Amino acid sequence: MMDLTRVNAYMERVSRSEHETFKPVGSKLKVGLDLGTAYIVLVVLDEENNPIACEKRAANVLKDGVVVDYSGSLRIVRELKAKLEERLGVELTNCAIAMPAGTESSVRTHQYVAEGAGFEVTNVLDEPSAANSIYQIDDGVVVDIGGGTTGLAILKGGKVVQIEDEPTGGTHVTLVLAGNYHIPFDEAEKIKQDYSRHREILPVVKAVLEKMASIVKRYVDPNEVDTIYLCGGTCCLTGIEGIFEKETGIHTVKPADPFLVTPAGIAMNCII
Ligand SMILES: Nc1ncnc2c1ncn2[C@@H]1O[C@H](COP(=O)(O)OP(=O)(O)OP(=O)(O)O)[C@@H](O)[C@H]1O
Ligand SMILES: [Mg+2]
Repeated sequence: MMDLTRVNAYMERVSRSEHETFKPVGSKLKVGLDLGTAYIVLVVLDEENNPIACEKRAANVLKDGVVVDYSGSLRIVRELKAKLEERLGVELTNCAIAMPAGTESSVRTHQYVAEGAGFEVTNVLDEPSAANSIYQIDDGVVVDIGGGTTGLAILKGGKVVQIEDEPTGGTHVTLVLAGNYHIPFDEAEKIKQDYSRHREILPVVKAVLEKMASIVKRYVDPNEVDTIYLCGGTCCLTGIEGIFEKETGIHTVKPADPFLVTPAGIAMNCII
């Protein structure tokens, strides 16, 4: 079982580290770079995995988990790194990166972006396994629903036995909202991220979320997996866990703030 209290407290501190710089224990820092379809995030932890600082930027430089705008990615990672270094007063050297399952062929592109920004890449992970560094579950399935991809890792006896990735995510949800309300994408995106409007939009986006749940259902056997653990920005949607539970018949949990789980998990795996 996941210790939800521990995860919520940890993720709250990661979120706070966006605006507040914490004093690290020791002198070595770990960095996680998450090049996402919707956001590029850099998380800094200390040697003991305490959250120290974090910067993120909404970006449109990847599609389906693959870098489609190399120079744009590079520029953003450089800027975020510089911001963090300014906040911390030290240079950041090592980082870990992660890939959605099935995009291993583009590992090198991700690596070149990190290296071009001045990092040495000391570890490369898959995204849902990175998320499980935070959750630390032994049995169950971790599902990371981001902007463009839905990744899952099935765990048995503490080991990842299967990883999968499908090209659907929050961008799809926003498109459905934009279409139904006859409004531009950016406006739909704002409405979607407004927690006070989640109850109103849920019926409109329910079918897309059911589709995502059905993807997960395709890969997991309810006789073998007893819990789905959600993370990724799209899981901020209020009520998503209920839809997953109904569609899959599997108990579904999510932390209070599922947004930065994967980037923080990537950082935990940075070798220093
Ligand atoms: N409060 C919120 N309510 C609903 N959706 C949200 C909220 N905050 C962020 N999102 C959505 O989460 C998505 C981004 O999540 P995340 O940062 O995990 O994706 P990513 O890592 O960039 O993408 P991917 O993993 O697919 O490459 C976006 O579609 C965004 O609209
Ligand atoms: Mg992601």
